[in-house]
Amino acid sequence: MAATDKGFAPYHDPGLPPIVMPECSVERKLKGQKALVTGASSGIGKSIAVALGHAGADVVVNYSRDQKGADEAVAALQACGVRAYAQRADVASEDDVLAMFERARAEFGTIDILVANAGLQQDAPFDQMTLAQWNKVISVNLTGQFLCTRESVREFKRRGVKPEVSCAAGKIICVSSVHDVIPWAGHVNYAASKGGISMMMKSVAQEVAPFRIRVNAISPGAIRTPINMDAWQTPEAYAALMKLVPYKRIGETDDIARAAVWLASDDSDYITGATLYVDGGMTLYPGFETGG
Ligand code: BGC
Repeated sequence: MAATDKGFAPYHDPGLPPIVMPECSVERKLKGQKALVTGASSGIGKSIAVALGHAGADVVVNYSRDQKGADEAVAALQACGVRAYAQRADVASEDDVLAMFERARAEFGTIDILVANAGLQQDAPFDQMTLAQWNKVISVNLTGQFLCTRESVREFKRRGVKPEVSCAAGKIICVSSVHDVIPWAGHVNYAASKGGISMMMKSVAQEVAPFRIRVNAISPGAIRTPINMDAWQTPEAYAALMKLVPYKRIGETDDIARAAVWLASDDSDYITGATLYVDGGMTLYPGFETGG
């Protein structure tokens, strides 16, 4: 899916071409697998869902409010020849998550891949941050990943390994952020939720590895989505953002989607408990390029 198809006007660095995902992959590495992607109606989640379909997986497209976005992802998946349906669920609600997994088992028989992606920002200077803003971000970003990861682990343990499908009993990919290691003033709730995801992911990975369940994280840097429009929409904002990105281009959602397909596939079978930073070098302390 080209960046320009996402319904908002992008600012591109004139010297660099946009990243475009190839049409349905000939190499269907996830054929026969069933995936569930949370927050898949827009941005990173939508691209991941479609890319998993390109790789041959059937996909549950979870959304909380944007049914139109979810329906678009479902249509793109069906055009790829895989099965897909949209599932409304608030990932912070245990009842919603249980119902979502129950339906997935009814429709697809099982789930092999979870991409726990749903997340949001509610920014405020720390001394003005309300308890409601703190709780909202922690409950969607962190508790939501806990609930979906727990239901996936239950299902993977119940089913066990099916060698004809995958080397692993199941794969979990937690979508975190560079802010699981980079502190972020004005976004304390968000950074705390992402730091929490990091230790949750590693601890669960340690616990479930003997069951051949792999749990990893992708930590995106600045990716062109509606969540951070202010950081890339004008040439001035884009230039300021590039000071933080050694690779000198904004990330596209397809950059993350490709990493997710790889982490979901048996190509990464010996990888668990790892965090893959897909950030154009944002975590390389670019402030030290000349200083220090
Ligand atoms: C945030 C974006 C931000 C990026 C890099 C992401 O996790 O959601 O708003 O641009 O980190 O700072």
